[in-house]
Amino acid sequence: MSVGVIVLAAGKGSRMKAGINKQFLEIDEKPILYYSLDVFEKNNKIDFIVVVCSPDEEETIKSCIIDKYGFKKVKKLVVGGNERKDSVLNGLKVMDDVDMVLIHDGARPFINNRIIDEGIEYTLKFNCCACGVMPVDTIKVVDGERFSKHTPRRSDLIAVQTPQCFKYDLIRECHEKVNREGIEVTDDTSVVEYFGHKVYLYEGSYNNIKITTPKDMIMAKQIYENLFTK
Ligand code: CTP
Ligand code: MG
Repeated sequence: MSVGVIVLAAGKGSRMKAGINKQFLEIDEKPILYYSLDVFEKNNKIDFIVVVCSPDEEETIKSCIIDKYGFKKVKKLVVGGNERKDSVLNGLKVMDDVDMVLIHDGARPFINNRIIDEGIEYTLKFNCCACGVMPVDTIKVVDGERFSKHTPRRSDLIAVQTPQCFKYDLIRECHEKVNREGIEVTDDTSVVEYFGHKVYLYEGSYNNIKITTPKDMIMAKQIYENLFTK
């Protein structure tokens, strides 16, 4: 069985307002994008990695991350698209002879081997899965005027993270269809759900944050310290 990973790095990082793409911001002198690549590189169940990036950042990612840190499993660096789903499809298109694919946000540095291994395990069992955590806040469903309609039980809710993991043929086919039909989706689990497939949601980690705004950088440094320097 061959397991590939798509690491998405083709966004603009606009909400970070950093002047440079957020994935190049550093935690302990290494860029955010380094961290997830390092975990996938060292996990022996992962066969290869495809990194998806913006055309103007291709050279920097190659020289300042992939070559610099010697990520040998990164077999391809491809250009992404306007939306996240376009970037995913570009990554899927350059993969061949692969049974399973894990799709991961490059902006989530703190994944671990347990999350990767369970993702593979549950994909073998259920064809698609994603990790996630129970929201800490009570979540309301509201109407168009922001009046609450109802309050789902917290135990019925999961905030979805990445990696999101799929049998390759399934996710490729669903993404191609979504692309052809111009369907709006926010993540890859929604892509397969749209065509009636059930996605198993296994336990992620509260450390597995997506770095999005400047406040997240402060939190990320704190998480890093707790995880690696104590
Ligand atoms: N991403 C991508 N291609 C896009 C948009 C997003 O590969 N067209 C990637 C980002 O690089 C990121 C992940 O998808 O790793 C999650 O997206 P998000 O956190 O929204 O990152 P950005 O789109 O870069 O940030 P922003 O929305 O603030 O501009
Ligand atoms: Mg975005």
